[in-house]
Amino acid sequence: MTSPTLLITIIITICSFNLASTTNSDEYHTFSKTLSPKDLVLKQEKLTHLHFYFQDVVSGKNPTVVQIAGPKLKSNSINFGAVAVLDDPLTVAPELTSKRVGSAQGIYAATSQSSMELMLALNFVFTEGKYNGSTLSLLGHNPILKKEREMPIVGGSGVFKFARGHTREKITHLHFYFHDIFSGKNRTSVQVAGPPLVNSSPNFGAVVVIDDPLTVGPGRTSKQVGSAQGFYAAAGQSEIGLLMVFSCVFTQGKFNGSTLSILGHNAILSAVREMPIVGGSGLFRFAKGYVEARTYVFNTSTTSLDAVVEYNVYVFHNGG
Ligand SMILES: *[C@@H]1O[C@H](CO)[C@@H](O)[C@H](O)[C@H]1NC(C)=O
Ligand SMILES: *[C@@H]1O[C@H](CO)[C@@H](O)[C@H](O)[C@H]1NC(C)=O
Ligand SMILES: *[C@@H]1O[C@H](CO)[C@@H](O)[C@H](O)[C@H]1NC(C)=O
Ligand SMILES: *[C@@H]1O[C@H](CO)[C@@H](O)[C@H](O)[C@H]1NC(C)=O
Repeated sequence: MTSPTLLITIIITICSFNLASTTNSDEYHTFSKTLSPKDLVLKQEKLTHLHFYFQDVVSGKNPTVVQIAGPKLKSNSINFGAVAVLDDPLTVAPELTSKRVGSAQGIYAATSQSSMELMLALNFVFTEGKYNGSTLSLLGHNPILKKEREMPIVGGSGVFKFARGHTREKITHLHFYFHDIFSGKNRTSVQVAGPPLVNSSPNFGAVVVIDDPLTVGPGRTSKQVGSAQGFYAAAGQSEIGLLMVFSCVFTQGKFNGSTLSILGHNAILSAVREMPIVGGSGLFRFAKGYVEARTYVFNTSTTSLDAVVEYNVYVFHNGG
């Protein structure tokens, strides 16, 4: 599905810190507590550059990736909806036998209806040197046929705690409509796992891969500015609550080629849902922010579950 070896270059800013231990047992059992910035002894921000190769082995006796849902994997087709779980070695050189520095553990989904593009959600788990035991979390859009792809680091642990950076130079407001269409010939989303989708229950366990058009107006034929590629899972047992994991991949104007990564909780029956922006690429490098989603049309008169959702995006970022 992907070329066996990918060169990964990571540039991140991180804060080194010491967490002052100030909790006594009563405070430990308190749900919430205000800390002073002094309690987190933040040191100067650092920029780290890592360089390694990512070995995605689909075939042979020792594959590092296994498909868990969607249509059958083929090496030369788009496979919209295919979902795979991976535990890929990270090595210092392109050869699989070269020194291993960690592994990439996570999930990817084929999220484009028209080309080979993946939504990647994974952790780099490092096992060497001072990074041993530390992790970096990545969530982004990977158009694998492009020579270079940029994906956001959205967090980390160990020495990479607070990995993300603090750049807050610009705020941009975006406004568009998100079309999630299950029915008809031109469907934009496909259920890949879970119980059958119906509109009257929480559908707990349903997993849907999306390549949803983003348009300037609410109509289906309105000008498209990008697409929402990723997946959502029905993760509420008593009410409809979706875990949303997707990238907005913009294709127009100055944001053409830039992406935003969104990871959040979407209680779709609420009037307004807020979800965090956890990263971005291109002009949205180091992005932070949130989106507000409001249902514009949700056709409950059919079992199609087609929806049009209005999005307002507020994002701090570095470029553009
Ligand atoms: C990494 O850390 C683990 C657990 O602390 C330890 O067992 C292992 O030997 C370490 N590996 C290296 C290469 O330092
Ligand atoms: C589906 O897309 C095709 C090509 O864009 C268009 O001609 C057709 O009208 C669309 N059909 C529906 C039902 O929207
Ligand atoms: C967006 O960028 C792509 C790749 O650089 C280019 O092929 C395409 O024409 C651009 N689209 C617009 C509307 O500028
Ligand atoms: C809902 O679907 C029905 C049947 O396809 C259609 O007649 C109706 O116009 C749709 N309602 C909206 C608001 O799109």
